[in-house]
Amino acid sequence: MRVSDRVAAMQFSPIRRFNTYAFEAEAEGKKVYRLNIGQPDVETPPCFMDAIRKFDKKVIAYAESGGVTELLDAIIDYNKQYDMNYEHEDILITNGGSEALVMTFTALLNQGENAIIAEPFYTNYNTFCGQVGGSLHPITTKAEDGYAWADREMIESAIDENTKAICCISPGNPTGRVLTLDEMRLVGQIAKEHDLWIISDEVYREFAYDGRDVASFGMLDEFADRVIIIDSVSKRFSACGARVGCVMSKNREFMDSVLKLAQGRLCCPTLDQIGAAALYRLDPSYYDEARAEYEGRRNAAYEEISKIPGVVCQKPGGAFYLTCKLPVDSVEDFLMFLLKEFDDNGETVMFAPAEGFYVTEGLGKDEMRIAYVLNQEAMRRGAELIRLGIEAYNNR
Ligand SMILES: Cc1ncc(COP(=O)(O)O)c(C=O)c1O
Repeated sequence: MRVSDRVAAMQFSPIRRFNTYAFEAEAEGKKVYRLNIGQPDVETPPCFMDAIRKFDKKVIAYAESGGVTELLDAIIDYNKQYDMNYEHEDILITNGGSEALVMTFTALLNQGENAIIAEPFYTNYNTFCGQVGGSLHPITTKAEDGYAWADREMIESAIDENTKAICCISPGNPTGRVLTLDEMRLVGQIAKEHDLWIISDEVYREFAYDGRDVASFGMLDEFADRVIIIDSVSKRFSACGARVGCVMSKNREFMDSVLKLAQGRLCCPTLDQIGAAALYRLDPSYYDEARAEYEGRRNAAYEEISKIPGVVCQKPGGAFYLTCKLPVDSVEDFLMFLLKEFDDNGETVMFAPAEGFYVTEGLGKDEMRIAYVLNQEAMRRGAELIRLGIEAYNNR
């Protein structure tokens, strides 16, 4: 008996793969600063639980495949603050941004077709795209350039005759790169000239720092027929376990296609949708507070990481990740050293090796991603442990 070649060729998540070693280190009594995963420690706004407590139906029935009306209404109103006008039929609720991406790739790609994306990129895109027989063609970026990619030549050189879409993650995971609205316009223009879809993953939309404006492809009406927006409550409201996201598009044929897929999986959890509706109704000041919190953490992490001699790191502009080049040959080997051999006063740290965020063989071996999901003090200590760890590792 054999499993499919398609799945056999997939990798385990480089974000979660090292957890076993962290558990072992903890079992030995070490404290491990877990900077590997985008799971914030910020409290989920209590309105989520309150809304669920108030649920008074006797049966938890299937919801509509496209989502409960209360949640769709709340998303429509939330979008309006950014002058984005999406109607009920333009939005479909999904099990997190993850399912929205799987449905999108399923709806767009035939076997052998591809989407282009700036690498390094959120590694699960390989799984989302690979499971439908598609592939991702990289626009390769560099730590030295702050992972910039909104450049006509770079984008066009990744397009071939089998390309169907340009994926855009902004603010970006793992690089923290943020596109301006003008840069989005350039991407839109290129997509139009090559007749491509735009898959815009905006799950970190509000997390843009240093006074950057919130930018969305949903603000660019001229590309509305080719734009697909992926969104989620996971990061915005620190509600990763709610598993509520959505896919939005003004393209009817696309929305009809994802509705077929949604009907096949019946619906998303009813109660989580009720809770999520309350989140989308939060006062917009919530976003300012959340942004300020993460910006402080970003500053703390960046300041400490910059102290590492030989590091190549530009200040990330958004999301809650920092990817950089470390002065070690193999970041993966260094991580194993941190978890198995190193400690400073009984403490060590873990991060995600960046190699798994690249599709181009050999790239990213000396790069790591940290998620600034812990408070400032913990971020400083975590980054300090990386610095001390490098000293110990390189002096072995
Ligand atoms: C860029 C990006 N897109 C999508 C997701 C999926 O998130 P979820 O399925 O929790 O909405 C993540 C999670 O880390 C992400 O970083």
